[in-house]
Amino acid sequence: MTGKATVVAPSNIALIKYWGTLDIDKMLPYNTSLSMTLSCCTTTTTVEVLDESDLDQVLVRTEAGELEVAGDRFASGVSAQLDRLRRWAGSGSGFRVGTMNSFPMGAGLASSASGFAALTLAVVAALGREVSQAEASILARYSGSGSAARSVMGGYVEWPGREDGSATELVRAEHWDLRDVVAILDERVKEVSSREGHRRALTSPYFEHRLRLLPERLNRVRQAILDRDFGALAPVVEEEALDLHLIAMSSRPPIFYWQPGTLRVLELIRGMRADGVEVCATMDAGANVHAICTADAEEAVVGALESVPEVQSVILDRVGEGPESSDEHLL
Ligand code: PMV
Repeated sequence: MTGKATVVAPSNIALIKYWGTLDIDKMLPYNTSLSMTLSCCTTTTTVEVLDESDLDQVLVRTEAGELEVAGDRFASGVSAQLDRLRRWAGSGSGFRVGTMNSFPMGAGLASSASGFAALTLAVVAALGREVSQAEASILARYSGSGSAARSVMGGYVEWPGREDGSATELVRAEHWDLRDVVAILDERVKEVSSREGHRRALTSPYFEHRLRLLPERLNRVRQAILDRDFGALAPVVEEEALDLHLIAMSSRPPIFYWQPGTLRVLELIRGMRADGVEVCATMDAGANVHAICTADAEEAVVGALESVPEVQSVILDRVGEGPESSDEHLL
């Protein structure tokens, strides 16, 4: 069989994070997470089905627009997911994969979420198969990037903990036009991967404590989204992001994702909120800070973040509608 498909899949930012896995091979999280699907931070991936005798080829599009053979680490992560998808589809075909990101990879901006969502959906389409959103979510999660389970859908997305389940859309993007202004403080690939962070999380004395707090915190975030109540959302989102980093820093051995500029940006955002600007901060496993804000606050937030000397650049993103197929193939 030969087929080709291209999918553009977005990253997402978790407002309630998953941190710690019950089963790292099946990517079963300890807790339910809730995210906002983004719109501009995307991965575009083209998959072409090859003959059965052909080996997989993984190519990455550079900023100059050329396709280069991917590095070993990246290619082996892609091939491992291709193997899982071959088993699922009962297919022996090789695949040619071309991929590009619209944002820095591996710096705590969930490039693995958009990357594995795009790869999974493009393979399914190239094979001429159809899956429900729920099946796509489970297939994407098996990649080893749990947050990919949430990137196959749009709007505000909830992914249940402690079960072999799929994410579901809580509300569509049009329900609430929140923005995500990302302050880039460090574009380098982080030293400790999320996978290792999930493993170490259980060694933190605060891990169990956070789990006890989460059901109520999740309810508050969900309700604030349903009510479009920024005042209710902001403090809980910040509390949750700080807890993730508290657990990382108190894991054995500890993980410090922050840079000095991280603290400066966090303080700036708290100060702006105290002055009445509808903005709050969250972070994934990295130094960069996501300033979640309303559309009215966006301009002021961008200006303030750009004035911080440690901020290298600012990415403007917003809630988005989820993956799309495209005719603009990379291969
Ligand atoms: O998607 P993973 O398995 O690489 O883990 C990501 C974990 C966080 O981004 C820190 C939190 C989350 O829920 O996205």
